[in-house]
Amino acid sequence: MTKMAQGETLVAKDIRKAFRRSNGWFKPASETQALRGVSFEVRPGEIFGIVGESGCGKSTLARILVGLEDADAGSLSRGDRTLFAPASPTVPAVRRGIQMVFQDPYASLNPRMSVGDVVAEGLAIAGMSKADRDARVAETLSLVGLTPGDASKFPFQFSGGQRQRICIARALVMEPAFLIADEAVSALDVSVQMQILNMLLDLRERIGVSIIFITHDISVVDYICDRVMVVYGGEVVESGKKNAVLDHPENEYTRKLISAVPQITSVKLL
Ligand SMILES: Nc1ncnc2c1ncn2[C@@H]1O[C@H](COP(=O)(O)OP(=O)(O)O)[C@@H](O)[C@H]1O
Ligand SMILES: [Mg+2]
Repeated sequence: MTKMAQGETLVAKDIRKAFRRSNGWFKPASETQALRGVSFEVRPGEIFGIVGESGCGKSTLARILVGLEDADAGSLSRGDRTLFAPASPTVPAVRRGIQMVFQDPYASLNPRMSVGDVVAEGLAIAGMSKADRDARVAETLSLVGLTPGDASKFPFQFSGGQRQRICIARALVMEPAFLIADEAVSALDVSVQMQILNMLLDLRERIGVSIIFITHDISVVDYICDRVMVVYGGEVVESGKKNAVLDHPENEYTRKLISAVPQITSVKLL
């Protein structure tokens, strides 16, 4: 596979999202401010971490980036192309060059579809011929450490880590410039986590894909990210180069996240 589309920075500006919930006729509706104006940039070929505790708005942000959800306000652009902005048409998800991998590799694979059909689905929708799809699927399965022969198998024949490789293949087959991994290793055993993290590092080297790595676990950020943005309550509290943020956190919340992970502090002390 050739190096994928590169050279464009993804720029998100002041993204806002609230969820309104009706509480029946007699109580006022409640509102959750999931994102309160989030801005950041993801550069070509970098691994950009988004870290924060459960409920801080990470998945909402991911869904907005990939086009599964609309923002209330803000803009997203890639190079000189606007992907969404007030009063401009939103670019369909497939053309954004952004693909997503979800947390649960069991829930996100259709058990009735063969691995080959799962991975090829986006290509089939895009109208690619069967012969071309088969070739691209074989290539992509090899890229994620599976074999072309795995295409004829079904998801139940694979372990959790292998299933997550299938999900990553399904995303990569569309040749995205940006891959979003939303808690993509959080459900896996530590040793399997390491294998997937190493595979993501290897993919970045081999195909130059940028990765937006979303996690609640700052030790994972420490392992693979180049830069990191810390989110608390729908707001960015701190961002910068990974080493700068982890070694010299300026924000109280960032310090708390770091001190909650004994291995980071102990490794840094050695
Ligand atoms: N579809 C939705 N309807 C109502 N509230 C939602 C919805 N999705 C997320 N939320 C709320 O928005 C906030 C952020 O959620 P989420 O983005 O899933 O956080 P995270 O991924 O960081 O755990 C939470 O308070 C959550 O309850
Ligand atoms: Mg989430």
